[in-house]
Order: sequence, then C-alpha cells, then structure tokens
Amino acid sequence: MSDLKARIQGIRDAFNQALGQVEGLKALEELRNQYLGRKRGIVKDLLNDLRSAPKELRPELGQVVNRLKQAVESGLAERLEELKSGESDGSSERGIDITLPGIAPELGSLHPLNVVNRDLIRIFERMGYEVAGASEIETDFYNFEALGLTKDHPARDMQDTFYITDEVVLRTHTSNVQIHMMQNRKPPFKAIMPGRVYRKDADITHSPMFNQVEGLVVGENITFTDLKGTLEHFLKQLFGSDTKMRLRPSYFPFTEPSAEVDVTCIICGGKGCRVCKNSGWLEILGAGMVDPVVFENVGYDPETVSGFAFGLGVERVAMLKHSISDIRMFFDNDLRFLSQFN
Ligand code: DAH
Repeated sequence: MSDLKARIQGIRDAFNQALGQVEGLKALEELRNQYLGRKRGIVKDLLNDLRSAPKELRPELGQVVNRLKQAVESGLAERLEELKSGESDGSSERGIDITLPGIAPELGSLHPLNVVNRDLIRIFERMGYEVAGASEIETDFYNFEALGLTKDHPARDMQDTFYITDEVVLRTHTSNVQIHMMQNRKPPFKAIMPGRVYRKDADITHSPMFNQVEGLVVGENITFTDLKGTLEHFLKQLFGSDTKMRLRPSYFPFTEPSAEVDVTCIICGGKGCRVCKNSGWLEILGAGMVDPVVFENVGYDPETVSGFAFGLGVERVAMLKHSISDIRMFFDNDLRFLSQFN
C-alpha cells in the first residue's frame, strides 16, 4: 500500500517537473499522452496495477490515483492556457508582469507652421507651380535694389531690417527669390517660394523671424485676371469654398498695380467679430503685377514679358486657422501646445 502511495507521489513529482519544462504545444501533447494515454499511459498503468492490490485497500488507492489523474489533467489544462497566451516565454520568472497594459510610444507630429506650409505648397503644386528658394542672408541688391527699393526709397521704412554689413542683410521678405529665379530662368514659369524672413519687430503678432510664401508667375500675356483667378482658387482651397476674396488698391515697390488681398473672416464668416475687428474681412496677402522696373533689373524685356506676384505670412494663416493669439507659441516649443495639432 505505502509502496504504491510512494510510487504515486514520485509520479506526481516527475509530472510537475516535466510540466514546468514544457515549452510548446507539441511537447505538452506528448506529456498528455505519456500520462493519460488510453493504452499505455502512466495513470492507466496505475489503475491496472490496482487490480492486484488487496481488495480492502482498493477504494482508498483508487481515490489516490484519481486525485493524481485530476492533478495531471488540471496541470495540463493550465499549462495549455499559459502557452496559448504566451506566458511561457519565461517573462513571469524574470519578474516582468506581462499582464500590465503597455506603454504607448509618444508619436511625433508636424509643427503647425509646417502643416500650413505643406498645405500651401500642395495647393500650388496642384496648379503646376514649382517650389524655389534662396539664401536667408542676402545682399542689398536682391533684397531691395532689384525689387525697386532703391537706397533712398521711402518704402524701405516699411521693413525694419537686420543689417549684417551695409551691403548684406537678413532678408526681410522672400521676394529676393524672385530676382534669383528670373536671373536664372527664361519665362514662362510659375513658382512658389517658401522661406524664413527677418525683421526687427517683436510683439504678440510679430516675430523677428517668421515665414513667408511668395508666388511668381512670368510669361507672355499674363494679366491681372490671371492673378485674381489664381488667388481666388488658392484662398478657397485654403479656407473653404465659401470664402470670398476682395482686392484693395495698395502699394509695393515691386508691383504695379498692387493690391492688398482680403478674405471673408474665417472665424465669423463675414458677419463681424473680434478677430476681424467687426469688418467681416481679414487681410491675408499682398499681390500685384510685376513692375516693369523689376523686369528690367533682371534683364527681361517688359514689352514682351508680364507677370504677377504675391506674398503671404505663414504664421498669420496658422494663427487665424487655429485661433492662436500669440505668435510666440510657435517658437516656444512647448509640447502641450505642439501636441494639439496631431
Ligand atoms: N514682400 C511683401 C512683404 O513682405 C509681400 C508681397 C507683396 C510680396 C506683394 C509680393 C507682392 O510678391 O507682389 O510684405
């Protein structure tokens, strides 16, 4: 009797040890066959052996064998669950709780200014524009002279310039790219020119460094109607198809005639609100027909070539689109601000 009990205890120990080492479903199945196989399983053998035990001991021994059988069955079932849910990779032994929720990696996102920049570029790329650029450190000639802003020109006061030397400046607008492009290319072409620009100006709506996007179309018979149609299409794409546009006469040294371009307020839709100062309109672009003087400065013949140009501020568009009141938010790099634009 105690022989048999000791044997059963031995079988239990061996089973538990084997179970702990099982690393796959196949090995588990083999273990099941080894212990519970109908013809030659270890438990079956035990039950067979019971028949030769003394009659009065059989019920008790039978119980012991049955308990072993149940232990084997539940051990196998438990291990099967573990294997299925991947718990058998040893992680629990290594002190890792794989049932804890994972830590989601923080996803980066584009800077809101880059989003606007990208949107602007895409709209013009769809109209067949190429993208051009030039240096942010610029000579007086490309930033001012060639654009009709002679040294004594009063319009130089429009832009507070960072001078590096008397002849070298941080460009005050992206209009310098126009000159480089026209010098290097023959018309016709159309391009937009995104880039950083610099002015000595700082308050909640002005930053000493900001971004502009310039546009330039040059060819034969380019007219003011082309300018109007292009800008209207662009503004509807950018702010929505309900957007209306209006042009006001204005002045730029490099365009003639020149216009200030307004859109219906994107906050109130034109009814009048705090953002549009109750006018219903927001100023969004400067534009005009390229001044013949500019063509002469780059060696084009103003009699055969015409064109239009426009420029806008990227920060202003982003501020309007997202109702941001302080331009410095764009440059503080506070993640609580930046992560709102995912
Ligand atoms: N350069 C102007 C500025 O910085 C913007 C501008 C106005 C660009 C009219 C143009 C234009 O090309 O035609 O304020």
